[in-house]
Amino acid sequence: MPDLSGKAAIVTGCASGIGAACVKRLVEDGASVLGSDINPAGENVCEGLGARFALHNVADTQKWPKIVDQAVAAFGRLDILVNNAGIVGQASIEEVSDEIWDRIYDINIKGTMAGCRAAIAAMKANPGGPSGALVNIASTSAMAALPGDPAYCSSKGAVRVLSKSIATHCAQKGYNIRCNTVIPGATETGILNAAEEQTPGLKAAVAATSPMNRLGDPAETAAAIAFLASDECPFMSGAELLVDGAALSLHPGF
Ligand SMILES: NC(=O)c1ccc[n+]([C@@H]2O[C@H](COP(=O)([O-])OP(=O)(O)OC[C@H]3O[C@@H](n4cnc5c(N)ncnc54)[C@H](O)[C@@H]3O)[C@@H](O)[C@H]2O)c1
Repeated sequence: MPDLSGKAAIVTGCASGIGAACVKRLVEDGASVLGSDINPAGENVCEGLGARFALHNVADTQKWPKIVDQAVAAFGRLDILVNNAGIVGQASIEEVSDEIWDRIYDINIKGTMAGCRAAIAAMKANPGGPSGALVNIASTSAMAALPGDPAYCSSKGAVRVLSKSIATHCAQKGYNIRCNTVIPGATETGILNAAEEQTPGLKAAVAATSPMNRLGDPAETAAAIAFLASDECPFMSGAELLVDGAALSLHPGF
């Protein structure tokens, strides 16, 4: 298990799924954690896991510095930001409205950018000099597209390259601040459950396309996040960790 004792973290989208599993994992690994979510239910989740909570819509870019200040005031520093909050659009290129497009982009990519921007400002001021780990959550939909959701797929593609740009900037500036991406495959969470309600049988169908013949557990993604957030991988920045049960590794037809 990575040792995160003494580290302070923010995890967005903490009320359910991968975000809640991530708060649990980081706390178990020794970190002090501030979870945030647009859903007030995140407060109970965080309380039950031994973390603090802040109500925050990640698309509210002006509020991001306040959320970071809240973590620094509570913990004295900021070492880890996990940009996990994300939504799907479920509208094809023929159906997607400007409103849906903007909403997806505001949350999935602008929120991620604003989180990294605010976190880097705080990480630069950490006692001992600039240090920290940014972990952004993309999706296998950024590598193989969903025909029914160009906004989601392209926003997650943007997250991948955003992480690389941030990684190179921080490295060239001489900051000890790494930025990496975790790429989950189909995982048993609220997003998939909502899709299952619209399309009964979807979860079983998706699981059947995986060589492991199952969906991922959010804790399995959280383990990859904890690794990238830790000091175990100081030369990993701009990297991507695929957590998809080999789904994208399978040649079509096999
Ligand atoms: N579950 C999957 O199969 C899967 C696969 C690939 C990537 N992902 C990504 O993993 C991340 C977590 O998703 P999940 O599967 O745990 O889904 P989830 O729906 O269970 O959790 C998402 C959380 O984000 C919160 N959220 C939504 N909009 C927000 C906003 N504007 N501000 C703050 N919080 C907001 C929700 O309230 C919810 O608690 C997302 O970025 C998603 O795109 C999920």
